[in-house]
This record gives sequence, structure tokens and C-alpha cells, in this order.
Amino acid sequence: MTLHNPSVKSVQTTDAVVATGVSKVFDAAGVTALDGVDLVVRAGEFVSLIGPSGCGKSTLLRLIADLDEPSGGTLQIFGKSAKQARIDQDYGIAFQQAGLLPWRTVAANIELPLELHGFPKAQRADRSRELLDLVGLSDFGQRYPDELSGGMQQRIAIARALAEKPNLLLMDEPFGALDEMTRERMQTELTRICAETGAAVVFVTHSIPEAVFLSDRVVVMSPRPGRIETVVPMALGPAHERGDQIREDPTFFSMVTAVREALHQGAPARGTDNR
Ligand SMILES: Nc1ncnc2c1ncn2[C@@H]1O[C@H](COP(=O)(O)OP(=O)(O)OP(=O)(O)O)[C@@H](O)[C@H]1O
Ligand SMILES: [Mg+2]
Repeated sequence: MTLHNPSVKSVQTTDAVVATGVSKVFDAAGVTALDGVDLVVRAGEFVSLIGPSGCGKSTLLRLIADLDEPSGGTLQIFGKSAKQARIDQDYGIAFQQAGLLPWRTVAANIELPLELHGFPKAQRADRSRELLDLVGLSDFGQRYPDELSGGMQQRIAIARALAEKPNLLLMDEPFGALDEMTRERMQTELTRICAETGAAVVFVTHSIPEAVFLSDRVVVMSPRPGRIETVVPMALGPAHERGDQIREDPTFFSMVTAVREALHQGAPARGTDNR
């Protein structure tokens, strides 16, 4: 069913994210979290950020999401300022903790962003049914979050992030708390969702195989100050067309090695504090 939804976006050709010379200094803490970050994420592209703890991955995501402001440089989201993109609901966000409201049903959690933006009740209900179907949880709309497993809650958080049909998903270690089996299932599910929605994704992870499986390109960051060390393109075909079998492909392993080597090149000497 097609909804008449004023926030439905047309197919994007403009780059999803263009960061030019972006820096972020936390003055009070005297920390330069990011320094001279240049990054382009194309429409529909899946890009992962990987790097040691404290290298500024979450900071970069927060700047893109307009949850904080850069100290220098410029950021464009679909050719607009980060603030305008936020106002236009161009992106959805999913973080490590699902962050569902325990007193609302699963469906009411998914509908929350639509409710906040004044969508009529019937449209909200239609959209949450569509999304529950998309994440394979059609029968759970009237349940409460604490009746669901961690993996199911994360799928609901992803459904909520997709509620307003964003052309960009910002995900910060969304599968970090899941067991390995569930995590792999979620990764496969995410590639399917990306294929269906055509959304670009900026995805933060500490897992090299996860980054390799999901991404068109893996951005390796180095700490102090946070910089882009290397960008490794994944020679595995378009990310959204990959199946589970690719995890056993020799090219997959060589990509894992390429990312690991890039990470180690950027690693500080032993004993250096990364934070
Ligand atoms: N609000 C803040 N105030 C002061 N310093 C901050 C703030 N947020 C982040 N930092 C500092 O900026 C640096 C980058 O932090 P950030 O959270 O972006 O790292 P990260 O790469 O996401 O790390 P992790 O992998 O552990 O999540 C760190 O040194 C951190 O201490
Ligand atoms: Mg982080």
C-alpha cells in the first residue's frame, strides 16, 4: 500500500554526506576529537567507520545528525546544512541501545517519530504495519519492548529509524550488544532493508567482518586527533546485493585482511592512550 506521506523522498542523486575539512574540538576537555575530515558518502552507498576507541566515530555521526556542531569545516547532507536535513527528516538514527520506550507498545514506538511530526493516526498505523513486516515482526505490534529479545528490539529500533522513509541511516554500533548468530542475521537483514529502501548508511562498528560484509567502502580512522587514515573499497560487488555465502568467499577474507592492516597501520605505539 502506498501512503500519501509528505515526507516520502524522491530518489536521490545528490551525495548523502559531504564532509569537508571537518574538525571538532571539545574546548572544556581540551580534546581535538576530529581534525580535517573529508568524506563523501554517495546516495545509496553503505559506508562503515572503524577505528580505535576514542577516535571520533560517534562524534562524526553526531555532527552529521546535527546533535552537535563542528568547530571547523563544512557538512552537507543531500546538499543542505545538517540542521536543514534534520528539519526535513532526511535521516533516521539507530544507536547501540535500542532505546525503545517501555510503556509504549512496539507499534507505538515505531510510530513515535510520525506522531511527533503530526501524521494522522491511520497513516501512522499503516506505516508501522509496513515496517513491522519489513523487519519480520508482523505479529509483535501490540507487544511491549521488554517482551522481545535484544535482537528483536534492535529490529524495532531500525524500523523506527525508517519510519519517515529517510534516504540516510546513521547507525552507531547498532548490533554491538547482540550475540554473534543474531548479529549475522541482523547484518543480512540490514542489507535486504537497504536494497528495498535505497537508503545510504553511515555505520559505526568495531567489528572488521561486520564492516566488510555490510559496506561498499570502509573508512579507517586514527585517533588523537581523529582523522581518516585510509578508505578501503570492498571488492565484493554492491553491498546490498550480497548474500550470506559471501562470508566464506576468499575475497571476503582478503578484504578483512586489508581492513585489519589499514587499522594496524594507523594504530599508535603500544601503551599510548587512545582517548
Ligand atoms: N561531549 C564531549 N565532551 C568532551 N569530550 C568529548 C565529548 N564527546 C566525545 N569526547 C571526546 O572526543 C573523543 C572522541 O570520542 P567519540 O565518542 O567520538 O569516540 P568513538 O570513536 O566513538 O569511540 P568508541 O569506539 O569508544 O565509541 C574522545 O577523546 C572523547 O573523550
Ligand atoms: Mg562511539
